[in-house]
Amino acid sequence: MKISEEVNKRKTFAIISHPDAGKTTLTEKLLLFGNQIRSAGTVKAKKSGKFATSDWMEIEKQRGISVTSSVMNFPYLDYKVNILDTPGHEDFSEDTYRTLTAVDSVVMIIDATKGIEAQTIKLFKVCKMRGIPIFTFINKLDREGREPFELLEQIEEVLDIKTYPMNWPVGMGKRFLGIFDRHNKQFVKYNGNEEESYIPYTELDNPEHKDLVNNATYQETNGELELLDQAGDDFSIEEVLKGDQTPVFFGSALAPFGVQTFFDTFISMAPTPTARRTTDGLVSPDSDEFSGFVFKIQANMNPAHRDRVAFLRVCSGKFERGMTVKLARTDKPIKLSQTQQFVASAGGTVEEAYAGDIIGIYDPNAYRIGDTLTESKNTFEYDELPQFPPELFMRVTAKNVMKSKQYRKGIEQLVQEGAIQLFKGHPMETIIIGAVGQLQYEVFEYRMKHEYNVEIMLESIGERIPRWLKAEQVDTSLFDERNLLVKDREGNFLVLFKNDFALRWFKDKHPKVELTDLFEVN
Ligand code: G4P
Repeated sequence: MKISEEVNKRKTFAIISHPDAGKTTLTEKLLLFGNQIRSAGTVKAKKSGKFATSDWMEIEKQRGISVTSSVMNFPYLDYKVNILDTPGHEDFSEDTYRTLTAVDSVVMIIDATKGIEAQTIKLFKVCKMRGIPIFTFINKLDREGREPFELLEQIEEVLDIKTYPMNWPVGMGKRFLGIFDRHNKQFVKYNGNEEESYIPYTELDNPEHKDLVNNATYQETNGELELLDQAGDDFSIEEVLKGDQTPVFFGSALAPFGVQTFFDTFISMAPTPTARRTTDGLVSPDSDEFSGFVFKIQANMNPAHRDRVAFLRVCSGKFERGMTVKLARTDKPIKLSQTQQFVASAGGTVEEAYAGDIIGIYDPNAYRIGDTLTESKNTFEYDELPQFPPELFMRVTAKNVMKSKQYRKGIEQLVQEGAIQLFKGHPMETIIIGAVGQLQYEVFEYRMKHEYNVEIMLESIGERIPRWLKAEQVDTSLFDERNLLVKDREGNFLVLFKNDFALRWFKDKHPKVELTDLFEVN
């Protein structure tokens, strides 16, 4: 098969949501469609730690994180589906953000009873700044939730993206009757625990559906539907692909209800891999030459061997096991031999992969996050991965001052690897590390101890709101422990505000000082 044919089958996406919105439940249903699991409950069991995990590092074991669940791939209809997991809960970290650089589209789940929540906003911002197409699934329609119009309005206002309802719910909770599938012009009937049924619009007049059609909730919703048709935005696939409009689907992942039509429509509309920017211009996914970039490194999978796996997003050409490629940063050849594994639901070795696929390659401590691997003669590199704004900050010191050499080396290497972010106090150069999630600290502490033989002390300075500012606007007298002035690795100044109130107060007092959110610059 030609490379372009393979590439055009790839649908690589992530599911983003706030914890408890239903990501695990929805993922599980998609795996059922793809015949990857036989019964519901498998993924949940894994999440709750009831599933056997292999002998990876302790923290990962405790948390039940596994590579096999980081990437799930399966054939569906004519497509090859790759779902990348974006860990939520306590596992939320910079890796969660970075994963979004490796996908071609995103499914955003919103809990209809809660509306948009904090973690969704953060993950959404990353998608928006990278122009990733976003498909929305509003979940838990089997429960009393917010009004559909209110939910759409919230998405438009809070997330600043246009919405197009692909379907429209008729009632919710106990009054839930089903959805008008506007896209496929059919009514999908909710039958409680029974399977959903499909009634084409043209058949709704049939006497057998009169109970449904005469129902007061149905009648009321018909009016809303007309309003939508007349006054709502038109559907535009071009805008969807640019990330300016999000198709919205209502349903229930648990029932499951509306999941099949959602998935089929999403899969047919979601983009296949497109050209990506490099230092050598755009590289097309169907180019003959293999290339890709590392977006995540999972360390210490096996404490006995200190193995690490680098997750590589294939961006062009064909990957074949055993091939020799070049690591662009060093210009040195690397043979991708036996040890790489395909991170699929079944695990195992991958023989070949194409643009859109994710492969796990054995990392003999050679790779860094953002590294480009290529078969091409002229070395090029994919765009650098953005730095994401950390939220938790700690002052760090070595317990034993005699170990300061290893301590510095450990920090330097782990920072370079992207495990943690480094900041320095100003003018006192205390070492402050920043992370997106608590897990990053646990991994950092563990690795400092086990890889560099240094015990460290961490002193939390809490959740902070970082804002960057220009060097010429720095006036040290304006800052204190509450609004802490620090420098990042590149020497740029930033302020770690104690909380939102402190940030607003500062802005009011010093309107001339320009403060930048990292999400805006990336
Ligand atoms: P997450 O991965 O996004 O964190 O969410 P998860 O799927 O684990 O779902 C969180 C909770 O919401 C679970 O309930 C799950 O059963 C429930 N849920 C998911 N989708 C739906 C839905 O469509 N309707 C309703 N009513 N509930 C839904 P739990 O009580 O926390 O867990 P469990 O006891 O069901 O395992």
